[in-house]
Amino acid sequence: MLLIKLPFLNKKTADQTIKNELKQDNLPKHVAIIMDGNGRWAKKRGLPRFAGHKQGMDNVKNIVRVANKNKIQILTLYAFSTENWKRPKSEVDYLMKLPMEFLNTYLPELIEENVRIQTIGDFNELPQHTRKAVEEAVDKTSSNNGLILNIALNYGSRYEIIQAIKRVATDVSSNNIAIEDIDDDLFGEYLYTKHLQDPDLLIRTSGEQRLSNFLLWQSAYTEFWFTDAFWPDFDEILFEKALNDYQNRKRRYGGI
Ligand code: FPP
Repeated sequence: MLLIKLPFLNKKTADQTIKNELKQDNLPKHVAIIMDGNGRWAKKRGLPRFAGHKQGMDNVKNIVRVANKNKIQILTLYAFSTENWKRPKSEVDYLMKLPMEFLNTYLPELIEENVRIQTIGDFNELPQHTRKAVEEAVDKTSSNNGLILNIALNYGSRYEIIQAIKRVATDVSSNNIAIEDIDDDLFGEYLYTKHLQDPDLLIRTSGEQRLSNFLLWQSAYTEFWFTDAFWPDFDEILFEKALNDYQNRKRRYGGI
């Protein structure tokens, strides 16, 4: 039983309780998060949606700190999907400014914390300023060897898979590979995530329980964890609750 449910415990005690319960040898190496609920967080407070996204951006830094503290190796965050272009232009423009704002504000701290920034997604469609800010951060952190903060920007899993299929087909027709060579591992080499292991744990905030075109191939055996909390409210206690629950899952990968 998790003691954080008990009302008489103060926050410090609850944090310590979870920390004590987290086993150091069975933590997920790769955590992926669908950061949902910024708009509803803002609406609940009578604020414009932008305010929710801004708060959500600041929360990314908090969650990176918790990931680091728990020695997570890879944190993949769904920051903008290939479907998010359907939003009003003003919101898309704002979301496209967030990576730059995030990096302007937090890059020095991230460098200090030995975080390495990487990305997945199609960068061709991104505005120049977004692309430039992220590419510079990737470059500046490329020799860091701590947590990999993998930002999914203009990412869509179906698009990723279709692009991979096209490149596999091209390589087959030019005799670079044989059809018989195609298996899970080889196909994985054609995906944006080729250098990363599959996520162990996928978290979605805001009460929605779907993948929304995120890491469809990579999450074949991922453990899912959902919370009603909106992303700006997803904090250290909830993150560690997710890690704790993960540690109590039995991962069988289809075996018994
Ligand atoms: C979904 O909430 C959230 C997004 C589409 C944007 C997520 C982006 C951030 C949290 C900041 C990105 C930070 C970096 C570092 C790039 P929603 O708007 O769909 O919320 P709603 O479902 O309540 O409307």
